[in-house]
Formats: sequence, structure tokens, C-alpha cells
Amino acid sequence: MPRSLCRITDLNAAEVREIFDLCGKMKRKEIAPRPLEGKAVACIFTKASLRTRVSFEVGIFELGGLALYITDNEIKLGQRESVADAARVLSRYVGMIMIRTYAQDDVEKLAKYASVPVINGLTDLVHPCQILGDYFTVLEHLEPKERYKVAYLGDGNNVANSWLNLASLIPLDLRIGTAEDTLPDAGILERAKSNSDSKILLTTDPKEAVTDADVIYTDVWASMGQKHLAEEKEKKLKKYQVNSSLLAWADPKAIVMHCLPAERGREITDEVMDGPHSVVFDEAENRLHIQKAIMVFLSK
Ligand code: CP
Ligand code: NVA
Repeated sequence: MPRSLCRITDLNAAEVREIFDLCGKMKRKEIAPRPLEGKAVACIFTKASLRTRVSFEVGIFELGGLALYITDNEIKLGQRESVADAARVLSRYVGMIMIRTYAQDDVEKLAKYASVPVINGLTDLVHPCQILGDYFTVLEHLEPKERYKVAYLGDGNNVANSWLNLASLIPLDLRIGTAEDTLPDAGILERAKSNSDSKILLTTDPKEAVTDADVIYTDVWASMGQKHLAEEKEKKLKKYQVNSSLLAWADPKAIVMHCLPAERGREITDEVMDGPHSVVFDEAENRLHIQKAIMVFLSK
């Protein structure tokens, strides 16, 4: 079975560092590998996307390949035919598969039955390319440190889960500020806690999460597929809004991150998102570089 990236913990710590190293070299244009020369990559989208779609398509082009944009309208994964059969068929045509969908199980099944690498471009459970790119952005912006203090504020969603996944591999002081019933995935949390090099704090107090933090991170309160819960989530999560008064509790050199798209005025204010601490657009750019690095790594 080829290597796939269904979640960050499919990698080990050395492999994560290898991907960051490749990412830096490609971003600085020190190397320009073309492992996808003559190959197509199936990019399956069951959910909307700006960054993931465009950065994958551009990245595949820059690696010499052809990106095929496929929506669920065409393939109806798991309905028109089984995920396993779709994986077997796609593997006869393409050199790699990228998928953004709802169920993590569909991505894992695709990876199990495909004979080419599969990359998770977001599920309800995790968003691995995002957090790998985000940690690369942290390394670019902050002085080297053994264990960054990362405060994630808001919904315990796919993005929060991927921060926890990263903390199970890389030493992190990760504080998640969220309500009692918007917690991250329990199994992913336990695994992160079992890494004794990381410190994991779950708190309902946003100030406790943010105190002295190097990184303040937030995401939408209602993810794709949950927009009908937006009002309910807003009530629960409004005290976790990333605004100037919350930012004042962080380290003075702290950076502010958001995976985007942002719902300005909800989880983050304009003042903070457009302010001097914000690195959100560098973060968006790094999706391109990190995904190229992931595709090069998986092509080995
Ligand atoms: N951050 C992110 O994945 O953006 P898109 O939903 O636009 O792809
Ligand atoms: N948590 C958000 C991330 C979007 C990139 C969602 O799943 O909609």
C-alpha cells in the first residue's frame, strides 16, 4: 500500500520535519522537483473550497502534473459505487488522489483500496494539510523555540483536532479555549496527551488559553455541514472571539492565525485580522508550498 496522508499522525516527527525542509527549499526556489510529470491527480471535492482547490491545482501544475477537478455531482462517492471500487478505478488513471469530504472513514477507505497516495484535503474530523502549513508559518514568523504556546480559540472542530494531532508528534504547549459541549475529538485528545513532550490544556476560560501565547488561532464557529447550527454555536462560543482585548493577554510578539475563510466580526474582529499581529495571508500562501512538499514526499 503506498503512503497516504489521511491525518497528520500517518507521519512520524522526522517525516514532518522532512516535509518542512522540502517546503522551505521549494518556497525559496532552491529546488524545483517535478515528480508528477506525465501524471494526473484526481482532486475530489464534496465541499466548497477556495484555498485547497486553487493551491492544489497550482501546486500540481508546478510539480509537472495535471489536476482533475471532480465534484461529487459526478462521482457520488459511496452511492453510485463503493468507495473501494472508486479507489481501484481511479488508481488505474491517476498518480495521486486528493479528497475533501465529510466522513473521515471515506478518506481512510479510499487510501486503503487505492494503489496510489491519497491526501486528505479536509474532512469533518481533520484538516492535516492546513495545520502542517500553519506550523511551517509559525516556524517562519517566530524565533526558534522548543515548545511554542499555541492558543486555539473556538469550536473543537477539524482544525482543532489537527492541532492536537500535531501535538502528538511535535512538542507543543497547546491550549484549547472552548465551551464544554464544543470539545475536540476525545480519542485525538487522548493521543495528544500521551505525548509527554507536549502540554495540552482544555479550558473554558479564553484568557487562560491566551495568556503569554505565541500563537493565537481561530476558525469559524460553524464548519461546513454545520451551518444550520450557526446561531447555537455563536451563543456558546462568542466569548472566545479573537479581539484586541483578548490579544492583549498574549505575548507582545504573538502572531494571529486563521485557516480562512473567516466570518469577520464573529470569531475574529477586523481590527485583529487586519492588524500587525495577523499572518493569515502568509498562512494561506503556505498551503501551496506545504502541499507541494507533501506531494513530493508521497511520490518518493
Ligand atoms: N483553509 C481552507 O481549507 O480553505 P478552503 O476551504 O477555501 O479550501
Ligand atoms: N472548520 C472549517 C475549516 C474550513 C477550512 C470547516 O470545516 O468548514
